[in-house]
Amino acid sequence: MGARARSACLTGGPVPRRLFASYPQTKTYFPHFDLHPGSAHLRTHGAKVVAALGDAVKSIDNISGALAKLSELHAYVLRVDPVNFKLLSHCLLVTVASHFPADFTADAHTAWDKFLSIVSCILTEKYR
Ligand code: HEM
Repeated sequence: MGARARSACLTGGPVPRRLFASYPQTKTYFPHFDLHPGSAHLRTHGAKVVAALGDAVKSIDNISGALAKLSELHAYVLRVDPVNFKLLSHCLLVTVASHFPADFTADAHTAWDKFLSIVSCILTEKYR
């Protein structure tokens, strides 16, 4: 299984499972989804999120440009409260750490944390 497919499995399974279990209020954004672990909705959505994170990595010097449309979508259409980006980032970080403990060095932790903070800032910048 390739890296992207592996990541999509995480974002379609363990990440939403942690997010919805630890922070059930986040479920209110997905009333139209089947939120059972591993559902088709979650797997499809997880793949989209991973693709967006992949685009951000590929445009590491212009993440704002790469995520401009998503930023508008989350601010103006979905109206996701910015606090939720911290919750999701935390769940992503914990999931990566627990699935790849040997690779999750202090440097890797720092890099993931910084990357997810930047992505979250960009996805919420349209709120201001
Ligand atoms: C949709 C990425 C954070 C709620 C999407 C889509 C992507 C995406 C790629 C699909 C857009 C499309 O179909 O054109 C991300 C990334 C995030 C993030 C990279 C942060 C790292 C959040 C958070 C929430 C959220 C924190 C709420 C808790 C939604 C909802 C949709 C959506 C409700 C629409 C789902 C649907 O009806 O298909 N997001 N998102 N997102 N996102 Fe996010």
